Amino acid sequence: MYNVVCLFFFFCMQDLLKVYKETRNGMLGPDYSTKFSPWLAFGCISPRFIYEEVQRYERERVANNSTYWVLFELIWRDYFRFLSIKCGNSLFHLGGPRNVQGEWSQDKKLFESWRDGKTGCIVCSFLVRDMGLDWRMGAEWFETCLLDYDPCSNYGNWTYGAGVGNDPREDRYFSIPKQAQNYDPEGEYVAFWVQQLRRLPKEKRHWPGRLMYMDTVVPLKHGHGGGSAQTSRGSKSSGGGGFRGNHSGRRSRHNVIMESETKPTFSKSTGLPRKRFYRARAHSNPLSDSHFPIPISPSHVDFSLHFPKFVGTNNEEVSKKVEFADIGCGFGGLLISLATLFPDTLMIGMELRDKVTEYVKERILALRKTSSGGQYENVSVVRTNSMKYIPNYFEKGQLSKMFFLFPDPHFKEKNHRRRVISVDLLDEYAYVLRAGGVIYTITDVEELGEWMRSCLEKHPMFESLTHEELDSDPVVELLCSATEEGQKVARNGGQTFRAVFRRIAYVS
Ligand SMILES: Cc1cc2nc3c(=O)[nH]c(=O)nc-3n(C[C@H](O)[C@H](O)[C@H](O)COP(=O)(O)OP(=O)(O)OC[C@H]3O[C@@H](n4cnc5c(N)ncnc54)[C@H](O)[C@@H]3O)c2cc1C
Ligand SMILES: C[S@@+](CC[C@H](N)C(=O)[O-])C[C@H]1O[C@@H](n2cnc3c(N)ncnc32)[C@H](O)[C@@H]1O
Repeated sequence: MYNVVCLFFFFCMQDLLKVYKETRNGMLGPDYSTKFSPWLAFGCISPRFIYEEVQRYERERVANNSTYWVLFELIWRDYFRFLSIKCGNSLFHLGGPRNVQGEWSQDKKLFESWRDGKTGCIVCSFLVRDMGLDWRMGAEWFETCLLDYDPCSNYGNWTYGAGVGNDPREDRYFSIPKQAQNYDPEGEYVAFWVQQLRRLPKEKRHWPGRLMYMDTVVPLKHGHGGGSAQTSRGSKSSGGGGFRGNHSGRRSRHNVIMESETKPTFSKSTGLPRKRFYRARAHSNPLSDSHFPIPISPSHVDFSLHFPKFVGTNNEEVSKKVEFADIGCGFGGLLISLATLFPDTLMIGMELRDKVTEYVKERILALRKTSSGGQYENVSVVRTNSMKYIPNYFEKGQLSKMFFLFPDPHFKEKNHRRRVISVDLLDEYAYVLRAGGVIYTITDVEELGEWMRSCLEKHPMFESLTHEELDSDPVVELLCSATEEGQKVARNGGQTFRAVFRRIAYVS
């Protein structure tokens, strides 16, 4: 009964589900994550029930990143279950499912200092990476303590933390102090569990060793205390999985301070994300089903999450609406240029590939942080399939500009139905564009350029801009110069084919 009350409270009364993604990295207190795990571990509640409840909530209240993320976390639970079926006993072997060879210690004294909270550091990563201890000692200790103990999740997460898990890309090192600073800046969490630290001033709680409060049991391999980026077993820490580590549902209460610390996916000099860590397959099939949240209508999109400086948290407070949409925005070059050219206009990129979307999101967040004067607050990105869900995001006549720049050509005739411009889809674009709104298209593929122009010419709601209008529109020049694809074409001396049309007013 209690769990059902809990669920009801969580889902309905508190509306915490709506903000789960933003709050789940909180460390102490009842509100930051679902607390389902003990109930799940003991079979008091089924994941299917939670799934159905989340679906209901999405239908009745809101579907957003947070509702998606709860289900995503549950998928990790499933993943570890299936993984353990696949791996069998190797999940309990020192080398894990991949049979990784390495030198691990079983030093009892070291282990006890960790177990008894004498290292000031109580996370999996420290035991494995900094102390170089047999990870199974930690896993076993967890097994005896956890309220939510579940062999698949426990051993699955430990093998992951130890870098012996199923996925070699996950072999990463996390700087404990940096993570602690990010997720527990006041030292409240660590002092909650290591009570001795409570009497230290907050700013010193993460540095007991340096402050002579406790002996440094082992130096940190990385971060303030260590300096070396070597893992405890001598291999270089891998930054390759940083993107997944930062953003996948892998973060959890136990490993929340294990997140990739130096953000190796970011350039040290510019503070911006580095594209090579966000590479994805060149094409996604826009006709296949993807798994991301789909708002049931524009009023279900929480734009305050995208534009916190412009849009209030309640729908009633929405003062400004998105006016520009960059469809298939790729790495976001156009949006970044438009953001400063039209600082008072809200604009959004729509991108199908998840890693690319994440890159744009990180790029925008980094620019917001580093720029002065509140720039880039007017630009955001969403992962979605624009061929299916444009009317789910925008109301009739909401947009003044839509961009279709260097869209995927889908050369083969049988794949033309995947093209993002077609006479049928133009119906939708005409619906969300206001009268006088402009649709910009450009490509370096001549045949596609002709296709897009002819679709626009055939459609009764569009007319071509004149040469004079094109010359006086500052955006036209950016179609090539600001987009990543346009720059590539220019570098290679390629030709481009442009079609810019206006949405005309409806004439009955
Ligand atoms: C070293 C280590 C050991 C762990 N051992 C266990 C364990 O024995 N039992 C256990 O249930 N979880 C374990 N986890 C996963 C995770 O920490 C807990 O499931 C989570 O803290 C539970 O809190 P919550 O229900 O509020 O999570 P929420 O963030 O609200 O997530 C919702 C649900 O998703 C699932 N989930 C979330 N993260 C994970 C994850 N990383 N792995 C698997 N499922 C996840 C859980 O069922 C959880 O209840 C472990 C994680 C680590 C790093
Ligand atoms: C060749 S890139 C062009 C990127 C960008 N416009 C530029 O000019 O640099 C095309 C992009 O459109 C995205 N895309 C393709 N189909 C899409 C769809 N249906 N919805 C959203 N994005 C899509 C692809 O993932 C890809 O990133």
